[in-house]
Amino acid sequence: MFETDKEVLDWYEQQPRALSKEFVNSIRWDEVANYPISPEFVPVLYYMRDVESYTEVYYNELLRTPTGRNPFFRKFMDRWNVEEYEHARLINRFMNAAGIQTSKDWRNDAKAAIPRSYTVENQISSWIAKMFGRHFSGVHMVWGAINEMTTLQGYRRLWKLAGHPVLEQLLRAIAQEEAIHSNFYWQVARIRLEGSDFTRKLSRFMVGMFWTPVGQGPKPQKETDYVIATLFKGINGVQNFDKNVGQRMESLPGFAGFKVVTNRIAAISIEGYCKPRIITI
Ligand SMILES: [Fe+2]
Ligand SMILES: [Fe+2]
Repeated sequence: MFETDKEVLDWYEQQPRALSKEFVNSIRWDEVANYPISPEFVPVLYYMRDVESYTEVYYNELLRTPTGRNPFFRKFMDRWNVEEYEHARLINRFMNAAGIQTSKDWRNDAKAAIPRSYTVENQISSWIAKMFGRHFSGVHMVWGAINEMTTLQGYRRLWKLAGHPVLEQLLRAIAQEEAIHSNFYWQVARIRLEGSDFTRKLSRFMVGMFWTPVGQGPKPQKETDYVIATLFKGINGVQNFDKNVGQRMESLPGFAGFKVVTNRIAAISIEGYCKPRIITI
């Protein structure tokens, strides 16, 4: 069990990259087109590629906050930003190999599609973050842990549902890196939350009030909902999500019984699902 940010960073830096050059070269790119990919998963691939590339936007947002000025977290962020962009690039490469046309300048096109209102919201949230200073780092860490865990489970669901062997080979390696990111955020969140009652209360309140699934904001809500409904469809999908994300969240200090995240996924993925009248945050 880690006790300091430095211990968590040391652990992270010891983790080899799953997407080494050798591994990427070993992917059977020339066999991608031999297997079909169901059209329902094409918008999911676009979404995942773009959201991975938006890490740069989130990175720049974090730099303006006390979280980004923490030297250990900054070191993590620099490697994390590179890894996430590579995920985006490899998903795009897979799409092209599968015959899905993408624009040459897709990265800038994806960025240009972010609504201006989101950029303003970014600025506001970094002001709030500054106001609460170090306590807000707890919120960032919990938020990051949810995003990384959700992304990881999203990839697992996609390779299981799509049944494409080369996509599975790629996503398994991406998922290994997402698991490392998840653990980094989760461990730092745990340290922050254990250390302060105020951080626990602030984090639970902020995440409960403002959390939205990863990518929503830069992407329109209907696209986020489509991805969630496709990957976590029905009771089984939601139970899978709750087991791998919701319950892990609830094991963080101050988050016992926190159901906001799973309830949100259920509201999207289960037809006729009624939100509980009282949402405990
Ligand atoms: Fe990623
Ligand atoms: Fe990640």
